[in-house]
Amino acid sequence: MTAQLEITYLGGWTGRRMARRRPICDGLPWGMLDLSAHSPAELDEARAVWTNGVFTEYASAAAFSNLATALLESGAPIDLTATAADIVVDEMAHVELVSRLVMELGGAVPYHADLGKISQVTSPEADRPFLRACELAVTTSCVGEALSVPALRRSRSLAGQGLVHRVLDRLVRDEGPHAQLGMWFLEWAAPQLSRGERAWLAGVAMDAIEVYTPLWREAGGVVGGVPALGASDFERYRATMTAAVEDGIVPRLTRSGITVDAARLRAALAPA
Ligand SMILES: [Fe+2]
Ligand SMILES: [Fe+2]
Repeated sequence: MTAQLEITYLGGWTGRRMARRRPICDGLPWGMLDLSAHSPAELDEARAVWTNGVFTEYASAAAFSNLATALLESGAPIDLTATAADIVVDEMAHVELVSRLVMELGGAVPYHADLGKISQVTSPEADRPFLRACELAVTTSCVGEALSVPALRRSRSLAGQGLVHRVLDRLVRDEGPHAQLGMWFLEWAAPQLSRGERAWLAGVAMDAIEVYTPLWREAGGVVGGVPALGASDFERYRATMTAAVEDGIVPRLTRSGITVDAARLRAALAPA
């Protein structure tokens, strides 16, 4: 059921444990953001971008949780599986961090989501845990996270030196390994994949890339951008995203024996 997204924190023993394991909010200059430097429209845009950020971090936590389950079910190496599960904790720490930034910006904008549908449904071809793990590794890590890293880096480079820069810096530091985990998984999985399964995974990767085409085709609410508040302008964002696909995601998948269809890729990267 779709409902207003609400983020809560229980506190007590679980709060202390999480703060000990992920002291991600410590040492940041909270309460120092000069909101008077921005117009109400700019603040609204920044609040919308970061409210969406809370949801995408939450969705990433769900995606890595699904991947960790598939890795457990396929008997993957323990360190690989534990890392996927540990990334779930990273992502929940990001939910906390980004939620606090949203509060600093004046609070969330209305945002409706159906958390009951947040888990990714894998395709019918993924009829055993190992193939589910392959699909989730490609869509979540090799494509999804690999797109978020350059976007966050770009926003960080434009965000000055204050709280927003520091928040982006903490996110960027964690997201690199998140994008790498899928490649480490594929290295382990490669000898077990048939030629037909590699071709299927190439299609899965292209499907995932096509899901993200609105990132470089539609400006959405972000047009002029508010770089100081972490909302990059659309033209720069478009170039960053298409380069991440062409120069990062596709060559790395190819090195793992997963070669996407060139014509489909060209069509996906073309402007609207
Ligand atoms: Fe994250
Ligand atoms: Fe991530």
